[in-house]
Order: sequence, then structure tokens, then C-alpha cells
Amino acid sequence: MNLDSHVLFCLVFFSFVVNPVHVLSGSSESDSVSFILSCGDSSGGADADGRKWVPDTKFLASPGKSISATAQLQDPSLPSPVPYMSARIFTSESTYQFSVSPKNRLWVRLHFYPSFYSALNASDSFFSVTAGGFTLLNNFSASTTAQALTQAYIIKDFSLMPPESGHLNITFKPSPNHNGSYAFINGIEVISMPDIFGSATMVGYSDLDAAGSSLQTMYRLNVGGQYIAANNDSGLSRTWYDDSPYLYGAAFGVTSEADSNVTIQYPSHVPEYIAPVDVYRTARTMGPDPKINQNYNLTWVFQVDANFTYIVRFHFCEFLLSKINQRVFDIYVNNQTAQPAADLIAWAESEGVPVYKDFAVFVKDEPGDEQLWVALHPSVSMKPEFYDAILNGLEIFKLNDSNGNLAGPNPVPSPMLVKAEETRNFASPESSDNAQVIGGIAGGAAGLVVVVAVVAVIAFRRKKMLDRSGSRTSGWLPVHGSSGTTASKSTISGKSTASSHLSSMAAALCRHFTLAEMRHGTKNFDESQVIGVGGFGKVYKGVVDGSTKVAIKRSNPSSEQGVHEFQTEIEMLSKLRHRHLVSLIGYCEEDNEMILVYDYMANGTLREHLYKSDKPQLSWKQRLEICIGAARGLHYLHTGAKYTIIHRDVKTTNILLDEKWVAKVSDFGLSKTGPELNQTHVSTVVKGSFGYLDPEYFRRQQLTEKSDVYSFGVVLFEALCARPALNPSLPKEQVSLADWALQCQKKGILEEIIDPHLKGNITPECLMKFAETAEKCLSDHGLERPSMGDVLWNLEFALQLQEKPQGAKIDVEKVNADINAMHRSMLSIDEESAVSEDTEDLSTSEVFSHMVNPKGR
Ligand SMILES: *[C@@H]1O[C@H](CO)[C@@H](O)[C@H](O)[C@H]1NC(C)=O
Ligand SMILES: *[C@@H]1O[C@H](CO)[C@@H](O)[C@H](O)[C@H]1NC(C)=O
Ligand SMILES: *[C@@H]1O[C@H](CO)[C@@H](O)[C@H](O)[C@H]1NC(C)=O
Ligand SMILES: *[C@@H]1O[C@H](CO)[C@@H](O)[C@H](O)[C@H]1NC(C)=O
Ligand SMILES: *[C@@H]1O[C@H](CO)[C@@H](O)[C@H](O)[C@H]1NC(C)=O
Ligand SMILES: *[C@@H]1O[C@H](CO)[C@@H](O)[C@H](O)[C@H]1NC(C)=O
Ligand SMILES: *[C@@H]1O[C@H](CO)[C@@H](O)[C@H](O)[C@H]1NC(C)=O
Ligand SMILES: *[C@@H]1O[C@H](CO)[C@@H](O)[C@H](O)[C@H]1NC(C)=O
Ligand SMILES: *[C@@H]1O[C@H](CO)[C@@H](O)[C@H](O)[C@H]1NC(C)=O
Ligand SMILES: *[C@@H]1O[C@H](CO)[C@@H](O)[C@H](O)[C@H]1NC(C)=O
Repeated sequence: MNLDSHVLFCLVFFSFVVNPVHVLSGSSESDSVSFILSCGDSSGGADADGRKWVPDTKFLASPGKSISATAQLQDPSLPSPVPYMSARIFTSESTYQFSVSPKNRLWVRLHFYPSFYSALNASDSFFSVTAGGFTLLNNFSASTTAQALTQAYIIKDFSLMPPESGHLNITFKPSPNHNGSYAFINGIEVISMPDIFGSATMVGYSDLDAAGSSLQTMYRLNVGGQYIAANNDSGLSRTWYDDSPYLYGAAFGVTSEADSNVTIQYPSHVPEYIAPVDVYRTARTMGPDPKINQNYNLTWVFQVDANFTYIVRFHFCEFLLSKINQRVFDIYVNNQTAQPAADLIAWAESEGVPVYKDFAVFVKDEPGDEQLWVALHPSVSMKPEFYDAILNGLEIFKLNDSNGNLAGPNPVPSPMLVKAEETRNFASPESSDNAQVIGGIAGGAAGLVVVVAVVAVIAFRRKKMLDRSGSRTSGWLPVHGSSGTTASKSTISGKSTASSHLSSMAAALCRHFTLAEMRHGTKNFDESQVIGVGGFGKVYKGVVDGSTKVAIKRSNPSSEQGVHEFQTEIEMLSKLRHRHLVSLIGYCEEDNEMILVYDYMANGTLREHLYKSDKPQLSWKQRLEICIGAARGLHYLHTGAKYTIIHRDVKTTNILLDEKWVAKVSDFGLSKTGPELNQTHVSTVVKGSFGYLDPEYFRRQQLTEKSDVYSFGVVLFEALCARPALNPSLPKEQVSLADWALQCQKKGILEEIIDPHLKGNITPECLMKFAETAEKCLSDHGLERPSMGDVLWNLEFALQLQEKPQGAKIDVEKVNADINAMHRSMLSIDEESAVSEDTEDLSTSEVFSHMVNPKGR
């Protein structure tokens, strides 16, 4: 894939200072409309954010021609049943009519949840949508789009030019090119908006009048901040998402929030509706080190459709500095300088004053490269006081083309994702092994969908709820000796074939390093740099970009481990950005080498801080916090995406610690996407590590996310007892920690086996809660085990019990909102044991031949 073949131009077009925005309140009250329709729903209702949705019938030109239907399955990632669980289905062309003001621009938001409606298969649905003379969607397949983006539902967000007639027709038409095709819609919003797209001149090129176009919102991000729900927007019911999934490469910068004594003061030419206060109060900056900042660009990458012009709107608000020439930076759009020497204080005249800047760029059609790059870099030549850059918010809008069209092609699901689904649906346990492929959060190519994924919504809601701590630590991790996650040389023969199996999204987000860079960064793979060894090869400590510390995992050329595991890890990790998941920076595929580059984790693995090492002992509170962090990472994997991701190799060596002791789950080479729709498990060959393996998974070779819960239960006891999951040198009944801890817990003598360093330092209430949680995780049957969300809740509670044994009062509502599916589970105690070395990677036959002591149950 050639990332350099993108041709484009990019030009500044309107200046913030002279922005002719028409304030909505300027027009009379009756001019503004707000229709929020739950389609095919006879009663309507409120959604998760409390917005009211009403039935759609009276807006239909001919209601008789349509069917109202209810989805047969409710995907757990839907934010609420309204408006997604009901749909209106059209088998022939049909129109909604709205009476609106001829003066105002309109938001038109379309909500789609591709699912099974009566006997209809969502894969058969292809249709077009037109409104006010513009083609919004064409040959649109909600199901393909959702699959490619691994989202359960899709929101398309448009801003239409004022309809001169005072009527807006929205017409749905099934595609004539597909037999049995139908159109459907779950929710429609038609809402008046001010003209936030003033007319402007495109400097240096041709004139561009955004006011004369309709637009589609591609991305709307609260940079360095959190998810902002529609009803917390500043009056325009927009949804803002976290920017971190779009960050490119290693350099995340740091996030910051305005001090409470800073008030955001909107100047008269930036009305509050341009963006809410929360967008301007939070920001991402490059970081404190001028040397590092000079050497990198803070970069975001977005998938867009080719052959369209885009407006990239930058929202800025300086709240950390107050003088001119303190922070001056260059803005690049698609590798072209859009703005040299941006100085926010010079623009806004004061701190706490929002400004925004729009740049236009045309993205030409170059196969495979439909990307929009946004980058910031300090203007070194201006000699500012600080070499740094800042961004508070970012919006990307697509302008209609000269035919009034806004529709792009359906994104293409990555081949790996498709294969993973096929495997899930059709394969027998044997053949599934051949397809060691995982879609994960693999995304398809051209992400024409608006706003991010459900992933983001859930992840950042949770972040909002539980993780107010905010700033991302930039310490990173080495992947210490762990099970196979690399590649064999067999299928990769050189640079040109590299990453051909990666989705373009993964390839875009993930940096491609040269072998020369890898050699340089590791002193030519010097033994002195080795920080871990595993079946796949070695892990080196290294440096890239001059000073960025990284962990470099290099496949052993003789390793037989599959190229798929290498790709799996790239596909998974390139899309997963979470405080508690290890971050992949990039990869190198060259000369038969397969190398993965991760952020460096200064404090290594959890295990080395528990036993068999001379590292200082962790306090009980530290251990609890680490367990909570790891639980959050796993909870995110299980519920954060449409496709449940099952880690399959949860153990203390796969929980890494950064320099601030933040826990990060690592090693996704074995991960699988989980069950979907009516399936309840994934059939697979047993893999994982002894001592942590779910007994039910052994017996039935069926993988569910509860297998991770089991392994995590072992991790919890390991943290409490500070001994290995398996220790063959102990008496038989004590070999397996899971067995032994459960026995002790049953007999009420658990205290006797806890880490002597902890004795007397754990409150009895906390110990009880913790042990009870770990015990439930080890329930013999998956169904009886708590969900990861439940585990998280209980550990948080245990932490409270440790800190305030008497007055512990967890904010139940807060946590409940976070954890949508809480299955309180029955207590069931049983025993299981498996004895072998615990770091081995196993296949089924090995598993059974190694099972020494399979006790009855
Ligand atoms: C911008 O430059 C990077 C390399 O620095 C390249 O990978 C990418 O494709 C370029 N983007 C565009 C849109 O040309
Ligand atoms: C809106 O913001 C307020 C205050 O920040 C917060 O309490 C509330 O939960 C938010 N509402 C939604 C729907 O996110
Ligand atoms: C839905 O249609 C797709 C494509 O035609 C097909 O592969 C799939 O099996 C169908 N699903 C069901 C449940 O009929
Ligand atoms: C809207 O649709 C109705 C019925 O299909 C039609 O009579 C009317 O002219 C249309 N209005 C516009 C502005 O297209
Ligand atoms: C639709 O079905 C008819 C007959 O069933 C077939 O002749 C025609 O080629 C099909 N069209 C498409 C687009 O698949
Ligand atoms: C806000 O308070 C911090 C210390 O709490 C201080 O350093 C800063 O100057 C204050 N900012 C303003 C605008 O008063
Ligand atoms: C973009 O436009 C060119 C020239 O008009 C055309 O050949 C190409 O197919 C278009 N690409 C897409 C994705 O529409
Ligand atoms: C930052 O991006 C610009 C435009 O793509 C490029 O010219 C420059 O070399 C980049 N700087 C660094 C340090 O990567
Ligand atoms: C969008 O459509 C309008 C009306 O059809 C047209 O005047 C305008 O030029 C189009 N915008 C672009 C960027 O082509
Ligand atoms: C419609 O979309 C499907 C799936 O993306 C694609 O295979 C098909 O070729 C498209 N049809 C037309 C007429 O563009």
C-alpha cells in the first residue's frame, strides 16, 4: 500500500475574525423547527440521554406503503432501545414531508440499526436517500457499513441548505440493482440550525462558498476531552466524541483541562453554539519536552471518501498561557501547510477566548488512500517560548459535489474481518484453527460514517464516569515474554507484500517503520537491549524518533508462529486506544522480519512485582488499583465494540505497568472476536496459558468472554497470595492456585495463604469483597461467573472498603450507568486443575495430555 500517492491541495479559507454567522435567535421563534422521530414506533419515548422521540406516521406522505417493524435482537452496544429497536421499512420509493422555514439551514440526522426486522435480512437492504434536492446516500448498505466499522448502529449527520420552498422531502428508495432490496430507517432528526458555514474565499486558489452547499459531518471531536451527548451540546444537538481513536502513531501528546478559575469567554464573532464550553475547556497539547516536540507532528488520520471537498474546522482556546509568542505552531492538512505560525493569543487577544479556523481540502481519488491527515508542529522558526501546539476540537465536513451529491461508496470490511465472521459462522472447531484471524475492531476502508463508533461512545462514557483523572500517561510498555504474537517468514516475502492483509484503516493508523530504523533504535538488536523473551522471539528496549522509548517485539526467524497472529495484533491494537490497553505504535515488515513496536512500559509486568523478583513489594492499594485498571481494559474489550473481543490469554505477565503504575492489558495475538447475534460462543481450538485456563473452555472448546473472567479470577488470587498460578513444587492440592485458593476460601482460611507482606494491611471488609469477587470469577460454569463489568464494580467497591471500611458508599448510580449489563451471579464453587508450565501456548491435544489431575466435579 502506497501511502504517499495522495494528491491534494489544501487552502485556507475563511478567517475566524470576519466570520459572517447568522445567529439563529435573530430569526423569529416560529422559524425554527425540531422534529425528532422514532420511526415505525407507535408511542415514541426517551433515549439514554433523555431526548424525546415521537412517532413518525404523520410525516409520511403515504404511510400505507410502509411497514413498521421491531428489531429481533437488541445489540448490547445500543445506547437505548429508542429509536433503534423500531424501524420503518420501505419496499418502494417513499417520502417524509416536513414543513420548515425557508430561511434556516437544517440538520438532518439519520439513524440506522441494521438488524433482523420480521423476516428481512439486513444484508439485502440497499437504498438511496435524497432530501431537498441533494443525494445524501446512494446504494447505501447499513449492514455493510456497520460491519466495516464494527459498529452496531450508524448515524449520518447532514447540514442542508435552507429549502427555498419551505418544505423538506426526505425520500427513501430501495436500490433497483439488488433483487429484494428494501430501505429502512430507525430515527430521523430535522432541526433548524444557524448558518455556521459562512461564505468565504479560498485564498490563493478558487473561491469556495460553503454557505451555498449542503454538508455531511464526517467527524466531530472534543479533542483531549470526553464524549458530549446531544443534549449537552450548546444548542445544536450535536454529539462530540473523543479524538484518541484517530491519533496516529506513538505520539499522543498530553490532554489537559482548563483550571476552574479560567472562564471561557465567547467573543461576539464566535457564538456559543459554534461549540460548547466543554470542547474549549479541554485540549490536547504535545507535551512538556521541547526536544521531543520538535521531532514529531501531533497527527490525526481520518478515513474519508475521495472526490469530495472537505472543510476541516479547528477549534482552539488557549487556557494555559496568556502571552503572544509563547506557543506558536504550524497546522498541516494533508501534509500541506494550512496555517504557518498559529498563535492563539495573537488571534484571540486573551486566554480563555475561543477561536476557530476552517481549512478546505479536496481529496482526490487515489486508490486505497482516502485519508485526511491533520497535523500540528511547533513553529521553531518563530522562536516561541514553548515548542508546543494545542487543539481543543476538530470537525470535518464533506461538501456536496457539483451534482448535489454527498453519497460515497459503502466502506469495504477488511478481508480479515470477513474471514473472521465466516469462521465464526460456519467453521468447525478444526477448521477454525486454520483461520487464526480476527477482525477485532478492524475497520473497513473509507469510513464514511460520521461520528465514531459505538466503541467510542461506550468507552468514553465510561471514561467520563469512572476515569476523570484525565490525562493520558505517556509511559509505555515492553511486551515481556508471553505467548506467541509474531509471525513466521513463510508468507511474507518482502516489503512490497507487506500488510496486504491489513485493512487500510489499520495500516493508516499504524506507523510503518523501516528495518533500518529498528536496527538503529536497538543498537542492531543488541543483546543488552533485550527485556523479554518468548516463544515468538525477543523483546527489545529501543528508541525511535530520537528519543521516544519503545518496546520492540521481533519475531524469531525460525518461529513457526503464524503471520495471522502478527496481523491480528496489528488489526486489533491499531483501533483500540484505551488507557488500560497497551498501545501499538507501529510495525515493520521487511526482509522476512516481522516486528511490532509498542509504547514502553517502564515498570514491566505485574508478575515481577508480586513474586520471584527483587522489585519492591506493591502495597495492597496499588495491587487493587492495578487489578481495577486491568479489569477496565478487559471490560472495554468485552463490551466496547460491536464485536466482543475475547483476550484469551489473561495472566499477570500480560498486565503491564507504566511509570505511573497504570495497568495496561497486552498481547492480543490470540484474541478472538466473540459471539454475535444468536450465537453464544466461538468454537475454537483451546489456546491460552495453563493455570489460567477456563475449565469449561477445556471441556467444550467453546470460547466466551467468561473465559477471560475465569483467568482474571486467577490473576486476582495471584495478586492477593503472591504466588504463581501453577507451582509444581508444592504438595499436590496446592499446585493450582485456583484450586487451592477456592478450597481455602470455602474453609474460611483464605487469610492463611495471602501474601505475608499484606497481612494486617487489608481491611476485613475489603478482603471479603475481593475474595468473594475472585471466587465468583472462578465459578465452574461461565454463566455463573460475573461479567467483567460486574467484576470492575466489585473491585471498585473493595477499594472503597479498603479506604473507608465503615463509610464506604459507592455511587451506585454512577457505576450502574457505566455497566449496562449487570448479571449478579450465583455463587458456585468447584474445582479445576491443570498442571503444566504456565507460560506455554497450547493446542488441544497438548492440553489434554498435560492434564495431570482432572478432578471430578
Ligand atoms: C502524509 O505523509 C505521510 C508520511 O509522512 C504519508 O504516510 C501520508 O500518506 C501522507 N498523507 C497524504 C494525505 O498524502
Ligand atoms: C451533561 O453534563 C452534565 C454536567 O457536565 C452532566 O452531569 C450530565 O450527565 C451530562 N448529560 C449527559 C446526557 O451526558
Ligand atoms: C442474509 O443475507 C446474506 C447475504 O445475502 C447471507 O449471507 C446471510 O446468510 C443471510 N442471513 C440469514 C440469517 O438469512
Ligand atoms: C414533496 O413530496 C410531495 C409528495 O411526494 C410532493 O407533492 C411535493 O411537491 C414534494 N415537495 C418538494 C419540495 O419536493
Ligand atoms: C433478479 O432476479 C431475476 C430473476 O429472479 C434475475 O434475472 C436478475 O438478473 C436479478 N437481478 C439482479 C440485479 O440480481
Ligand atoms: C488559576 O489558578 C492557578 C493556581 O491555582 C494560577 O496559577 C493561575 O494563574 C490562575 N489563572 C487565572 C486566570 O487566574
Ligand atoms: C473520482 O473522479 C474520477 C474522475 O471524475 C473518477 O474517474 C473516479 O471514479 C471517481 N472516484 C470515485 C471514488 O468516485
Ligand atoms: C510534519 O508534517 C509535515 C507535513 O506533512 C512534514 O513536512 C514535516 O516533515 C513533519 N515533521 C515531522 C517532524 O515529522
Ligand atoms: C453543492 O450544491 C449546490 C447546489 O446544487 C451547488 O450550488 C454547489 O456548488 C455545490 N457545492 C460544491 C462544493 O460543489
Ligand atoms: C452497491 O454497494 C455494494 C456493496 O458495497 C457493491 O458491491 C455494489 O457494486 C454497489 N452497487 C452499485 C450499483 O454501485
